[in-house]
Amino acid sequence: VELRPYNTLNISARAQSFVSIHSIEQLQDILKKKDRHEDIFVLGGGSNILFANDYNGLVLKVAIEGKKVIRETDQHLWLEVGAGENWHQTVQYAVERGWGGIENLSLIPGTVGAAPIQNIGAYGVELKDVFEKLQAVEIATGEVHTFNNEQCQFGYRDSIFKGKLKEQYVITRVVLKLNKKPVLNTSYGAIQAEIEERKIERPTIRDISDIVIDIRNSKLPHPDTLGNAGSFFKNPVIDVDQYERLKESFAEVPGYRVNEHRIKVPAGWLIEETGWKGKVVGDAGTYKQQALVIVNHGEASAADILSLAEAIQDAVKEQFGIKLVPEVNIIG
Ligand code: EPU
Repeated sequence: VELRPYNTLNISARAQSFVSIHSIEQLQDILKKKDRHEDIFVLGGGSNILFANDYNGLVLKVAIEGKKVIRETDQHLWLEVGAGENWHQTVQYAVERGWGGIENLSLIPGTVGAAPIQNIGAYGVELKDVFEKLQAVEIATGEVHTFNNEQCQFGYRDSIFKGKLKEQYVITRVVLKLNKKPVLNTSYGAIQAEIEERKIERPTIRDISDIVIDIRNSKLPHPDTLGNAGSFFKNPVIDVDQYERLKESFAEVPGYRVNEHRIKVPAGWLIEETGWKGKVVGDAGTYKQQALVIVNHGEASAADILSLAEAIQDAVKEQFGIKLVPEVNIIG
């Protein structure tokens, strides 16, 4: 099976076999019947992955649907969503009903089931802020397990499903705890600026969602028109000491405090400084509006993308002594 239609970087690679999963029973049945030695890769929206090679195993495309309110109080509402549902459509579903908490995460590509794996985040909000629990099927046994917020061990673009439990579970459902009396998060400067610019006196979650959609559209390429997987690297988190030393040579270097000792530096800024912003090598390049996004202008191969990524890593390392780590999941 050609995987090109299943990854937003539009990379061509082949999978030995491929099945779409519509229910937990179907998934358990497949896990029971499959050859024990066959590798399995679980695919969501394909918006955060790079297939480095052909995949010598079974690709499971999670397509479990459904949205259901499973509990409600005066203040909160618990929405259970199938892992195969589109993330942005789920955000819009909540926004339309006045349920707050995920409006800042508008227009993030991908599926609901993939969201917890890297604890998706944008504009001051992370999935972990609204996450109640998830249901997942263990690949080795077919057993159904529940993970609460703490058990997922969420971190910056991180969870237990990228660490200790990597590739061991298929996430089948996610429960979000939403707010019927929304509290807006406008901590991100550009959102605040837009509220003022648009002279919105009492912003609603609809306003926030619209603003986020506009900001994203102006900075990030839409995967339907230009192949990409969002931020290609994580923003490096460095020691305050190292940051202070960096400031001596690069007075302008931005930094956001993570805690007392650590500072997050925007990788996009570092890459832009090296001169790589908007550059194109063959069909691989960085986006002209956001240097952190690697794009496929047409027929770039995985090797083209990886060699561009390496050249960028080398340039940043050379100029700033900082190692950029991929945010995109590289398979194979
Ligand atoms: N910047 C530059 N040049 C660039 C890009 C960025 O100088 O080409 C600097 C600017 O100083 C800017 C700062 O970087 O103020 C931050 O840029 P931006 O607001 O675009 O955010 P980011 O740190 O580059 C992160 C997430 C995005 C998320 C945005 C908004 C990571 C790896 N990326 O990007 O997430 O949408 O914040 O919250 O944390 C993704 O994960 O795929 C993704 C797109």
